[in-house]
Amino acid sequence: MRLAIPLASALFAAAPAHAAYNLVKEYSGTNFFDGWEFYGNYDNLTNGDVTYVDQANATASKLAFVNEAGHAIIKVDDTSFVPYNEKRNSVRIETKDYFPLGTVLVFDATHLPFGCSVWPSFWTKGPNWPEGGEIDIIEAVNLMPANQMAIHTSTGCTQSGTDCSQGAGCTVGEKAANSYGSAFASAGGGVWATQFDTTGINIWFWSRKDVPSSLSSATDSVDPSSWGTPSAQYSTSTCDVSKFFTPQQLVIDIALCGDWAGQANVYQQTCNGDGSATACYIDNVINNGTNYADAFFEISYLKAYSSSADTFVATVSAGTTVLATAAPESTSAAGTGTKTGSAADSSSTGSGSGSGNGAVSNTRNYVAVAAAGLLSLFTWAMM
Ligand SMILES: *[C@@H]1O[C@H](CO)[C@@H](O)[C@H](O)[C@H]1NC(C)=O
Ligand SMILES: *[C@@H]1O[C@H](CO)[C@@H](O)[C@H](O)[C@H]1NC(C)=O
Ligand SMILES: *[C@@H]1O[C@H](CO)[C@@H](O)[C@H](O)[C@H]1NC(C)=O
Repeated sequence: MRLAIPLASALFAAAPAHAAYNLVKEYSGTNFFDGWEFYGNYDNLTNGDVTYVDQANATASKLAFVNEAGHAIIKVDDTSFVPYNEKRNSVRIETKDYFPLGTVLVFDATHLPFGCSVWPSFWTKGPNWPEGGEIDIIEAVNLMPANQMAIHTSTGCTQSGTDCSQGAGCTVGEKAANSYGSAFASAGGGVWATQFDTTGINIWFWSRKDVPSSLSSATDSVDPSSWGTPSAQYSTSTCDVSKFFTPQQLVIDIALCGDWAGQANVYQQTCNGDGSATACYIDNVINNGTNYADAFFEISYLKAYSSSADTFVATVSAGTTVLATAAPESTSAAGTGTKTGSAADSSSTGSGSGSGNGAVSNTRNYVAVAAAGLLSLFTWAMM
């Protein structure tokens, strides 16, 4: 069937800030790892001293699994002996789905990876990274005491005079206590909420005791207007979010050393390195790995909420983003209840995520758009 044109304008027209965002996707419980791709290659992106194993390997070697508490564990291999000149195994996963403007992401964890040489991140990116914008929600290295948020864009986006296309991007250091390291875990972890909308990008962090009860108890919807001042606020006034950001895919990874943690001066400052280029690798990555006992994420859940009445889920093939409208998936993961039908047709079972190669065979309707800088309407597709 063909879609009516107004769907596209509904998708891309500048929408007002929405108070309520409805649950469209949940990664949690025994199904946490459904809907992710494992990188399955050495780190050829940030020069880390790791091999990101594929899903079969990560599962067999227990680098990615769901623990007895129903939490997802994503970790660095801390049991293998790594000889000099070899890399250590770790995990990098990316969602098959892309989330458009008008999304709120909520990430609840009880432990983040930390320690010398460890460089974890929970972040988002467009299909043609580094084009299409990047939001770093959780990122830190070595023994840094606090989380650092950032956005990266192509040229033309600034925040308080900083060019977000350069270097570290537009960074904001977390000021609230216990946002990283052993302190984060000792405090029982915490929650990040990221609002990705035409009005701007906002990131909130709460240590466990400060998590708003409306958020902890949220099942079907969240309302950011009650959350107070975000830790990081990226305004649209000097950075048109709808221009610099395509729909975003979620990424969780743990690198070792590499372009940030392994920089000689960074490693020296945050781990007492001797200032040599190889200190990070030699001091940590090789040998028995018992130093990586804390290099793991323990994630209670990751949820995506949408301001739209429909569910917009997307997959990407060869630079083309396919945004699908379908009923929300039934998110009946452990103990979280079931989400039904705020979208057009709750009888549709497809989420539009297909196999990650652009196939959306279960989806009732979809539109394809080219993801070339500014999203522009490209073609219609039909079942
Ligand atoms: C990284 O390696 C994978 C697998 O070989 C390849 O498909 C990809 O293009 C590489 N990326 C870069 C940036 O070199
Ligand atoms: C995982 O892959 C590594 C190579 O990167 C290999 O040494 C190891 O045996 C594999 N483990 C499993 C359980 O397949
Ligand atoms: C691992 O190596 C460290 C030194 O590099 C040593 O202190 C520790 O005892 C070793 N652990 C095991 C289980 O062999």
